[in-house]
Amino acid sequence: MIKNPENKYIPFVPLKMEHRAWPDKEITQPPIWCSVDLRDGNQALVDPMNLEEKLEYFHTLVDIGVKEIEIGFPSASETEYEICRELIDGGHIPDDVTIQVLVQARPHLIKKTFEAIQGAKNVILHFYNSTSTLQRKVVFHMDMDGITKIATDAADLIYEMSKPMLEQGMNLRYQYSPESFMGTEMDYAVEICQAVLEHLHATPENKVILNLPTTVENCMPNYFADEIEYFISKLTSRDCAIISLHPHNDRGEGVATAEMGMLAGAERIEATLFGNGERTGNVDMVTLAMNMYIQGVDPKLDFSNINKIKEMYERCTKMKVGERQPYAGELVFTAFSGSHQDAINKGTQYMEESHSDKWEIPYLPIDPADVGREYEPIIRINSQSGKGGAAFVMQHTFGFDLPKAMHPEFGNIVQVETDRVGTELKPERIFELFRENYIDATKPYELVRHSFAEFTDEEGHSHVTFAGTLRHTDTTFQVQGSGNGPIDAFFNAIHGQKMDRFTFVDYKEHAIKQGSDSQAVAYIHLQDEDGKDWFGVGMSHNINLAPLKGILSAINRAAKD
Ligand code: KIV
Ligand code: ZN
Repeated sequence: MIKNPENKYIPFVPLKMEHRAWPDKEITQPPIWCSVDLRDGNQALVDPMNLEEKLEYFHTLVDIGVKEIEIGFPSASETEYEICRELIDGGHIPDDVTIQVLVQARPHLIKKTFEAIQGAKNVILHFYNSTSTLQRKVVFHMDMDGITKIATDAADLIYEMSKPMLEQGMNLRYQYSPESFMGTEMDYAVEICQAVLEHLHATPENKVILNLPTTVENCMPNYFADEIEYFISKLTSRDCAIISLHPHNDRGEGVATAEMGMLAGAERIEATLFGNGERTGNVDMVTLAMNMYIQGVDPKLDFSNINKIKEMYERCTKMKVGERQPYAGELVFTAFSGSHQDAINKGTQYMEESHSDKWEIPYLPIDPADVGREYEPIIRINSQSGKGGAAFVMQHTFGFDLPKAMHPEFGNIVQVETDRVGTELKPERIFELFRENYIDATKPYELVRHSFAEFTDEEGHSHVTFAGTLRHTDTTFQVQGSGNGPIDAFFNAIHGQKMDRFTFVDYKEHAIKQGSDSQAVAYIHLQDEDGKDWFGVGMSHNINLAPLKGILSAINRAAKD
């Protein structure tokens, strides 16, 4: 990089606007969506899509609900022409979908394009020429009138060539793009677009789409919105036009440009899935649509199975959707950080307890289930994760609802392991640590055999007697005791033994289903004479036995320590 970029780069000069209305507007309805995946997206690929891939992509766009699809540039190559014909002749285009074909404002290409669309039901013929100051200077060496003449001559030819098609019943509409609009003097952009509207005989009944591209994104989205508001206010035949935007993403602001442009009056957006397209791509249709969705506006596009769409996209384009891509990236619904995990956990609990219909979970702007991502782990564990994260995984992946008091201890066990290995721990490894540390803590004290006797007296009080054989390494010994329940009886039975240095603090038990097998799991909280907490976990098909195993698990863990 150079020290004085001002010596090299020409900054964008914003319009002088005294008043602007767009900042006070809201997006309350979706735009008319047009996909340019099969044209702008395709022409930016290292290996452009073949016929099969384009067809599969086309059908996916139809399934998503896109009603206007730019299928290519049929005059550009034989392949493009063939694809257009196959779509039409092969009956791939539903009656409510309009195909759009792109052509430069050049007579022989326009003629070839008319050949390519024969027999289609609904067509948008999209023609363009470049209008910016820079392109006029370095590419076309032409003044404004010369550039306007290219556009209006093309409009005249298109209008004439359309007549037989319209007579045959084709629903043929027109779209004009002043390519590099963002670098065009706004008054000139208005002038050329107004001329095109007139040459195409646009009326409020037969509107022409004026597609205003940021061919190369060159300014902040607010400046662009000013331009759109200005452009619309100056266009004499505003009611004869549909204002469309075609944002690229060179500054990484394509989505904001589209959103602010809509506030400024744009009614239609040309976009691609996941923002594929030239250089940094076109604006991402998924992000734009889902941004509306989470503001409570139905985008009228269906991304309920984003993973399937992503898989198709990656296979057909051979491009990758990044892990952080909004709504679709592999990691966008995942929290590694402890404080985020804790807040998500609390949000999940709040939603369960409040039975609220509203989505109110911190750090998750959208319910992953709405885009078909409910089966992926939200909380993943590495060295950045907190104490509650491991408990969340135990609960949501394996159904073990650890008592709150136990979270720090188990979280610590997991953290020691993440620090040791230095990588993420998969849920299976977390479960292994849980098993090794708690359920498998069956030595040195083992319960060899036991029996319970229970009776209830006239006042309804329960009396339980426990008798059992315990083993400590090679020594077995008998114990017996009574109490008001199995845990009390067992504690009284081990009274006087070496293991008798704990007080019982708390206990929690629930059923757990693993496959077709249902078991009880008991979490036991003991405290030793030094006030140190010890947790144990027992599992059994017998709900009386699970807590006893849990007590021995806690005692064994203390003995090992
Ligand atoms: O980016 C662009 O300007 C285009 C036009 C052809 C609309 O793709
Ligand atoms: Zn483009």
